[in-house]
Amino acid sequence: MKKTALVTGGARGIGFGCSTSLAKEGFNLVIAGRRPEADCKEALDTLRALGAEVAYTVCNISSHEEREALLAFAKAQFGSLHVLVNNAGIAPKTRADILDATEESFDEVMNTNLKGPYFLTQAAARWMVEQKQADPLYLGCIINVSSISATVVSVNRGEYCLSKAGVSMATQLWAARLAEYGINVYEIRPGVIATDMTAGVKGKYDAVIENGGIPLRRWGFPEDIGKAAAVLATGAFPYTTGQVFMVDGGMTIPQL
Ligand code: NAI
Repeated sequence: MKKTALVTGGARGIGFGCSTSLAKEGFNLVIAGRRPEADCKEALDTLRALGAEVAYTVCNISSHEEREALLAFAKAQFGSLHVLVNNAGIAPKTRADILDATEESFDEVMNTNLKGPYFLTQAAARWMVEQKQADPLYLGCIINVSSISATVVSVNRGEYCLSKAGVSMATQLWAARLAEYGINVYEIRPGVIATDMTAGVKGKYDAVIENGGIPLRRWGFPEDIGKAAAVLATGAFPYTTGQVFMVDGGMTIPQL
């Protein structure tokens, strides 16, 4: 029987890169996002053409009720969950110097990028533990998509950096808590990836690449993250949990 993966924000950008790789690995998919299903048709058709059964639902991950509804939807559709990819996330609406940035933006970014995935993990983990107790051979996996902003400072988007640093700690917390149930938890830490999120700052990062700021000298693509997610989700590192997988083209290598 096929395994099931839930990917938040899995119909575009990095999330779609993850969904695509997981579909290729034979997973069925539950995808949650903010857009109505009709707007995601092309992406969902592409995943179905790869052989995956795909169920899509609209969900705002910062809402408790909508997270509960999402997991109820996954249960009704497939009855099991093996992999959770916490990918959905936002940048601040405006990049503002931390001397000026607002509490409103702080709350919005933290609720979406940190609180949402943290409590979705809690709810999904309870279900995964039940599955483990019912079947000792069950293996679960949780993957958090953070960012190099977990450790690299940008003083014009402090709330984003804080949210990703939090995701990094959440990865270790859940890894430690869930290890006894055979549920491995990982963090994928992307560098600069070509998606809608970075479209508005393309010129800035083109210049960084031009000036050698990314040793591999190119943008990252959603499939670069997808490949890493698939390797982790398929259990290639059974004796590894709570670890960070850098997918940043070498951007954070400390250099003189
Ligand atoms: P994107 O803007 O293309 O896609 C974001 C996805 O998240 C969309 O599918 C959207 O529907 C979903 N989403 C946003 N808020 C949501 C909410 N409240 N509830 C449910 N779904 C929601 O962005 P991208 O670039 O694909 O980013 C995906 C993840 O990767 C984010 O967590 C982002 O912080 C992270 N990331 C992105 C990098 C980049 O360079 N693009 C670099 C490092 C990390």
